Amino acid sequence: MLYRQLIAYMVTDLLPQIKNSLERSAPWRPRVIDLFSGAGLFAHAFEQEGFDIIHAVEEDPVAAATHVNNLRSRIDVMDVRRAVPAQECDVLISGPPCQGFSTLGRRDQADPRNTLCLEVARWARSAKPLVIVVENVVAFLDSPQWDTLYRRLRKLGYDVRPFVLNAVDFGVAQLRLRSFTIATRIGFPVIRSSRKNVPTTVRDCFSGLPRRPDGKNHHYSATPSELALARMLVIPRGGDKRDIMANAPQLAPPSWWKTPGEVTDIWGRMQWDAPCNTLRTEFLNPSKGRYIHPQQNRVISLREGARLQSIQDSWRFCGTPYQIARQIGNSVPPLLGRAVAKAIKKLLLP
Ligand SMILES: C[S@@+](CC[C@H](N)C(=O)[O-])C[C@H]1O[C@@H](n2cnc3c(N)ncnc32)[C@H](O)[C@@H]1O
Repeated sequence: MLYRQLIAYMVTDLLPQIKNSLERSAPWRPRVIDLFSGAGLFAHAFEQEGFDIIHAVEEDPVAAATHVNNLRSRIDVMDVRRAVPAQECDVLISGPPCQGFSTLGRRDQADPRNTLCLEVARWARSAKPLVIVVENVVAFLDSPQWDTLYRRLRKLGYDVRPFVLNAVDFGVAQLRLRSFTIATRIGFPVIRSSRKNVPTTVRDCFSGLPRRPDGKNHHYSATPSELALARMLVIPRGGDKRDIMANAPQLAPPSWWKTPGEVTDIWGRMQWDAPCNTLRTEFLNPSKGRYIHPQQNRVISLREGARLQSIQDSWRFCGTPYQIARQIGNSVPPLLGRAVAKAIKKLLLP
């Protein structure tokens, strides 16, 4: 009899009490919605800082597949313009397309993608976040779309301020300047640099990886064509297409002589003991930037690229090599994303 009473007491009184007190002591996890979420690396940074990603929207099914592979959040694979928030959130993060703003592109004012950033204001109206973050290239801040977004967010009652951050100041082995427009109802975050005295270098990043890409865990590099290989052979560490023109002019096409200052045809080789330049989506193509390995005659591998973005080795990508390079080049480096997330968490949980 006593035994039965004890069981009944445990089931009806004790267990609910334990459950309640566990729920009370579990830390509050602010809810995040992520628009234009790509492979989910900005969201991942928030998750690592104790946020719950409740909803993401991304129209590219391959980037979304990577997101699903690594994060548990709901993701709608569709155009943000047709999606609606299912619930309110505490923080709205977003990485709208930057091609129309980038100084490397044509900076086409009429690029239809430029207005996509305004979707953030529409979502803010319904999801009522306390803080909003819009990540983009720095030139976005000079665009008429930024002005419109600023006015719309102000009208919704937010204070709005742009922050320009360099990934290298946050422990990333990369000189990567990006703008983070922050709209807030609860004050502005103080985003602290976590750079040690000496920046992380390409050598630090590649350490521990097999010297030659073995194809395992995305340590894959595109095989150069015969012409590309011949060009790479004459480019010293830190050098670029100017070395091809000087050392092997027969390998330089006529267009290089017509526009020697052209910034889109670079053929740059990395240095070992410095951070790399901004990693873009086409880093498997040696002409597109400074993506040639410091010592070997090949472009960096996907895993080396991921490391240069501070993406951990356990991150599982989906897609072809070129799709994966796009996801890496598009992403917010997680170490930088974490600094932003940490500062916002301090605002929400002082
Ligand atoms: C700069 S990336 C975002 C990267 C992401 N924040 C990260 O850290 O991994 C921009 C993304 O917006 C997506 N995109 C572009 N137009 C879109 C649209 N209309 N609706 C949804 N996603 C869109 C692209 O496919 C791309 O993955």
